[in-house]
Amino acid sequence: MGIFIKNIKKLVNVREVPPASPLRGSQMETVPCVEDAYLLTEGDRIADYGTMSSLGTEDMERYSRVSDTVIDASGRMVFPSYCDSHTHLIYAGSREMEFMDKLRGLSYQEIAKRGGGILNSVALLHETSEDSLYEQAMRRADEIMSLGTGAVEIKSGYGLSTEDELKMLRVARRIGRTTPLAVRTTYLGAHAVPERYRGNRRDYVDEIINSTMPAVAEEGLADYVDIFCEEGFFSVEDACRIFEAASGYGMIPKVHANQMSFSGGVQVGVRYGAVSVDHLEYTGPEEFKALQGSGTIATLLPGATFFLDMKYPDARAMLSYDLPIAIASNYNPGSCPAGDMKFMMALGMIKMGLTPEAVLNAATVNGAFAMGLAGDYGSITIGKKASLFVTEEIPSYEFVPYSFTSRLIDTVILNGEVYGHLQHPIR
Ligand code: NIG
Repeated sequence: MGIFIKNIKKLVNVREVPPASPLRGSQMETVPCVEDAYLLTEGDRIADYGTMSSLGTEDMERYSRVSDTVIDASGRMVFPSYCDSHTHLIYAGSREMEFMDKLRGLSYQEIAKRGGGILNSVALLHETSEDSLYEQAMRRADEIMSLGTGAVEIKSGYGLSTEDELKMLRVARRIGRTTPLAVRTTYLGAHAVPERYRGNRRDYVDEIINSTMPAVAEEGLADYVDIFCEEGFFSVEDACRIFEAASGYGMIPKVHANQMSFSGGVQVGVRYGAVSVDHLEYTGPEEFKALQGSGTIATLLPGATFFLDMKYPDARAMLSYDLPIAIASNYNPGSCPAGDMKFMMALGMIKMGLTPEAVLNAATVNGAFAMGLAGDYGSITIGKKASLFVTEEIPSYEFVPYSFTSRLIDTVILNGEVYGHLQHPIR
């Protein structure tokens, strides 16, 4: 059985033949749509779509008959779910007191140097049981699903010991099993140097390579490996050591690159075939040239740039270098306690000068590529997962990022199941 959605004002980001590689440069400027459309799901997949005028009366009746849910989407649009390729969704508690420190003038690095920042979350997580961590993270998972996200990458990195990193990654896998979200996981042991290794980073990297990473691999807990390659955190040399070890376990690199300085994170990511390099506030022609033709996606996290009140990366220049751009939320307690992809797209337009088409592709098609999920997610394509949302009545797709704090989603469908209607409480 399935869902039949009829009279759709506009079916957005329809890719009859989905792109074989991430959209780059000018390819990002087009969002193919079908006007006055229908869409049919069967099981967890998209089974058919087309224009209403192409549907005969018999087809209409048959599609209604074979579907257990029929939605009349007159005046409303259907979008593929967002693909959020960079989050730290699993954390304990919150860090709003640091937010106050920031407002009083302390920088992210100054807070970290005083033992706050990531290490604050590490201490909180250590005191939190796996079940409580799961419950806290589930609230955020529910939140992002109701905001239209259907696929998400979740990092570890608030454990920094074998036991606590495993705890985080087990919770991430559990969210993948117990929700309709597609979840990809990333081992981020090199997020900060824990207190017990203060001044002794090399030994901590040894522990990552010799103890934690093998344990993570043994339980099959991580699809990717990541490093915060930044002054005061980890170096290019650390990245080389970690990526070499990770390749033996089939963990593909991602990099927190060039967030606070020209750290070399972009170049080392490209050298090791990273699926994406993320942040990129401190980038210019050298980094863009390194990325050109590399297959590594430039993932922008404008929510963190906004929250830390920093200078935004030059996304338009990236497109002129023919780079593929993804946009992700970076939902985390320190630099972006927010997971609303619509807001991230709005920032992409307002602060980085991207078009609505580019931000939409960055948040769907290219986000899926940045998680290795492009075969199943990121566009309206027959055979892909039926993960999508139906909007309320809206005049145009540009209205979505324009209307950046309004709740515009009426119905969320994930893997072919109605997850929730906005009119009714979700769950
Ligand atoms: O992507 N920059 C490093 N990691 C996160 C922030 C983590 C935190 O402050 O808790 C980020 O911005």
